[in-house]
Amino acid sequence: MKISVIKNDLDQIATELLVLPFTSGALKNEAEKTLESLELDTKVLKDFKADAGEIIVLYGSSTRYVAARVALLGLGEGKTIEDWRKASVAFATKAVDLKIEKIAIDCSSIAQLAASTEQTVSGLAASLVIGCFAGNYRFDQLKSGKLDKKKSPKKPKDITELLIKVDADALEDTEKGVAEGKIVASCQKMVRDLVNLPANYLQAEDISKTAVESGKKHGYDVKVFNKKEIESLGMGGLLAVNKGSVQPPTFTVLDYNPKGKHKAVVALVGKGVTFDSGGISIKPSENMGEMKSDMSGAASVIGAVEAVARLGLPLHVIGLIPATDNMPSGTAQTPGDVITTYSGITVEVGNTDAEGRLILADALTYATEKYNPDVIIDLATLTGACIVALGYAVAGLFSNNDKLADEIYQAGQQSGDKVWRMPLWDLYDEQIKSDVADVNNTGGRGAGSITAAKFLEKFIDGHKNWAHIDIAGPSFQPKGGSNKVNGGTGFGVSLLVELLKKWS
Ligand code: BES
Ligand code: MN
Ligand code: ZN
Repeated sequence: MKISVIKNDLDQIATELLVLPFTSGALKNEAEKTLESLELDTKVLKDFKADAGEIIVLYGSSTRYVAARVALLGLGEGKTIEDWRKASVAFATKAVDLKIEKIAIDCSSIAQLAASTEQTVSGLAASLVIGCFAGNYRFDQLKSGKLDKKKSPKKPKDITELLIKVDADALEDTEKGVAEGKIVASCQKMVRDLVNLPANYLQAEDISKTAVESGKKHGYDVKVFNKKEIESLGMGGLLAVNKGSVQPPTFTVLDYNPKGKHKAVVALVGKGVTFDSGGISIKPSENMGEMKSDMSGAASVIGAVEAVARLGLPLHVIGLIPATDNMPSGTAQTPGDVITTYSGITVEVGNTDAEGRLILADALTYATEKYNPDVIIDLATLTGACIVALGYAVAGLFSNNDKLADEIYQAGQQSGDKVWRMPLWDLYDEQIKSDVADVNNTGGRGAGSITAAKFLEKFIDGHKNWAHIDIAGPSFQPKGGSNKVNGGTGFGVSLLVELLKKWS
C-alpha cells in the first residue's frame, strides 16, 4: 500500500473512494455544509451519527469532484487513538468489501482535532495507517484458489493507494506519524500471520527462524538455543513440556541494544507453544485447532522487538521466547511428575495442560538472572479462565508494581489493546501448594488466571517491577465470535510500542 500525504484539494483527484471523517461533535456544524458543497443529499444525516467506525457510502455526480464515491466516516468523539483506529479499520474493511484499491481521506482538520483531544498529529496519523492496514488484512497464504476459480474469478483486492490530505502546517507531523504507523502495522501483520499459521507450518524452530530473519533485517542480535543447549542450561520446564514431542524445543533471545545511551533495560517474555493439545491431560477435541494460537505471546514479542528496533527507540529491549508444542505420547510428561526448573524450584505437574507456566518459568528466571532488567513483562495465552473473566476483547493484567500496572493500563487505553488488572494477593498461594514439590502447576477450580500468575511470580526472583499479561482472549478471535475478523489479531504490539515510547 502506497501512502502519500498531500496538501492539494481532493476535488480533482480521481480516487475510487473519498473518505470524509467527522467527529460526533463536529457533525452538526460541518456535515451539512460539506454535503451541500458536494451536491450530495443531506437527508443521509438523519441516519449518520458519526459513531466511531460508522460508515455510509454515497454515490453522487457532480462537477465539483471526480471521486467515484464519497464515504461519511464516524470518528466518535475522536478523543482516543482507539476511535481513530476503529474508524480507519472501518473504511479499509469497506474498501476491501467493495474491491476498491484507491482511497483518499480528507484530514484537513487533523491539527485542530489533535489539539482539542490532547493527542498529537503524528499519533492520529499513525493510528489511521495502523487501522487501514488492519482492515485490509487477510490471511490467504494457504488458499490455493483451485476450488473457487470459476465462481469468483476476481481475487479479493488489496488497497494499493491511500492519499491523506492535510493542511500545509500539519504535513510534517502527519508524515512522521505515517512512517511510524507503517512500521507498527507491518509488525502487527507479521504477528497475525504467525498466529494464524497452523502447527504443521509453524513449529518452535520456525519461530526462531522468524526471529533470526527479523534481527538480520532490522539490526538486532538473535541467539537461538537448540535442544542440546537447553539441556545444558537445565531448563527443566521447557524440556518437560517438550517431552511428548517429536519436534525439538527452542529458546530464542532477541537483543536490541541501540548504540549510545539507553534509558532502560526491558525484558519481554512470550509464551511460544506452537500447539497445545493439553498433553496427557488432553483437551476436548472441540475447537482444539484454535490452540495453534498458543504462541501468540511469542509472536507479539517478536513483533514488539522488531517495532522498537525499526523505530530506533533508546531502550535496551530483550525478547525471550521459550517454544515447543505440547503433545501426548509415550514419552510425554505425566500428571504427578515432579520436575526441576531452571531456577532450581521443583514443580509438581498437577496438569500437563498447564504447560505455559512451565516454559515461562524458565524464561523468566533466565531474564532476571542474565540481564538484570529494569522491567519484565511477559505475554502469554495462559488461561481459559482469563477469557471467562474478561472475554475476547480484553487482556488480564497482573503486576507486583502499581506504577507499572497503571502505565500498562494507560497504554492499553491509548492503543486500544485493552487490559484490566487482576489481583495478585498472597492468599492465592494456598491453592498452588504441593505436598511433594515446592509448588504445583495447577490451582484447582477458582481464580485460574490468578493462580497461574502467582505461579509465574515465583520465578522472577523477587524482581520488583514485573507484569504478566494474559492474552488468551484478545490474541485470537474464534470463528463465529462477535468480531468480524477471525483469527490472530496482533494484540500486544500496539500496547508495547505505546508503553515503550513513553519510556523513551
Ligand atoms: N493455552 C491454554 C489457555 C488457553 C485456553 C488459551 C483457551 C486460549 C484459549 C493453557 O495452556 C491451558 O490449557 N490452560 C489451562 C490451565 C489449567 C489446566 C490449570 C486452562 O485454562 O484450562
Ligand atoms: Mn494448556
Ligand atoms: Zn497453552
